[in-house]
Amino acid sequence: MMKKVNYFNSTLNGEIHVPGDKSISHRAVMFGSIANGTTTVEHFLPGEDCLSTISCFEKMGVNIQRNGESVTIQGNGFEGLLEPKEILDVGNSGTTTRLILGILAGLPLHACLIGDASIAKRPMKRVTNPLREMGAKIDGREDGQFTPISIRGGSLKGLTYQSPVASAQVKSAILLAGLNGEGITTVTEPHQSRDHTERMLKAFGIDVQVEGHSVSIEGGQSLQATSVFVPGDISSAAFFLVAGAIVPNSEIVLKNVGINPSRIGIIEVLEQMGANIKVENKREENFEPFADLTISTSTLKGIEISGDVIPRLIDEIPIIALLATQAEGMTVIKDASELKVKETNRIDTVVNELSKLGAVIEATDDGMIIHGKKGTLRGAEVNSHGDHRIGMMLAIASLLSEGDMFIEDTEAIAVSYPTFFEHIEKLVK
Ligand code: S3P
Repeated sequence: MMKKVNYFNSTLNGEIHVPGDKSISHRAVMFGSIANGTTTVEHFLPGEDCLSTISCFEKMGVNIQRNGESVTIQGNGFEGLLEPKEILDVGNSGTTTRLILGILAGLPLHACLIGDASIAKRPMKRVTNPLREMGAKIDGREDGQFTPISIRGGSLKGLTYQSPVASAQVKSAILLAGLNGEGITTVTEPHQSRDHTERMLKAFGIDVQVEGHSVSIEGGQSLQATSVFVPGDISSAAFFLVAGAIVPNSEIVLKNVGINPSRIGIIEVLEQMGANIKVENKREENFEPFADLTISTSTLKGIEISGDVIPRLIDEIPIIALLATQAEGMTVIKDASELKVKETNRIDTVVNELSKLGAVIEATDDGMIIHGKKGTLRGAEVNSHGDHRIGMMLAIASLLSEGDMFIEDTEAIAVSYPTFFEHIEKLVK
């Protein structure tokens, strides 16, 4: 659906609660489904990706009741999962695909996974290869690189794995398989990726050892049900953190936003660029910290973003590119070739769509270069290409773009932020 928006010359003021964290919501349903007992989840994200996870586990016989943002899962351990009679549809969700493969790897069942057109292009050998090494039988298009993928799990041996990429999905898939592996499974990454799996496994009673960029787990442990509170998603908050910084005369308060250290690259970048951002009322539940964030209109300067920080802000790069168009000077983003294998090739989609608005931005092999303050952006016909974060970035861009913006395929936004436009309307004055 094409949506016409024109928020030019508005200001943003007020307070919002962004929806629950996507990564944590997926894991709460998955871990609740393989735990023993009743797990309750509060402030669950009812976005399409997490609903895909629920439907996959329901197809494996798990009783899951959802009432808005509250979810109750009756887990019966790994053994409680039944061989699915239907194909598991992962929709648009890479996290669902890769983590479920890790869970299924250790179970004596057959299952078949399929997703949408975007999922069919995303590389899966990064998980299917190490899971095969552990002993799972996996087949799929191009030898297990792409969906559809079928898996027959069974008895696994532990694995010591040096991952070539910093990816929480790869790390989590191998660790989840490791729970059913013989002996110890260790994953080492080149840079630390988000660590929600490690933190939540601890909350479910699992002994997880972390040393530098290595995480180890011993096979044969079982998960005990617990209660999970899901903090607000910093990746959703990021759209309003950027909007509050770049739209004149604005101040936005974002309540209960997750500030897990492996996710706060966006806060670090805003601070380095000179933004007025406050982090207050820090607290923690189930080993996940969260806080209230306040952002107001700021004078910004361009910076270089590279190295270790990249995994801490990988999902925020589309909105950081827009932020950089409003900063004085040049912003260079490097070491981010993982962007090419996200919901879209986000180097290409960001550069192409922002260029349509008059931004001065170039693609590089592993990132992009953005020349800031090159005149007022202008509304244009743009396209999310089915990528939720591109759709939201373009809607935020309309706050600074003269004239009407026509955004194709805004439905994609429901993947992670179903109430996104309601929240813009609430803040726009
Ligand atoms: C996620 C990990 C990241 C991130 C994705 C969610 C997760 O992907 O981009 O949106 O929940 O584990 P990679 O593991 O591919 O880096």
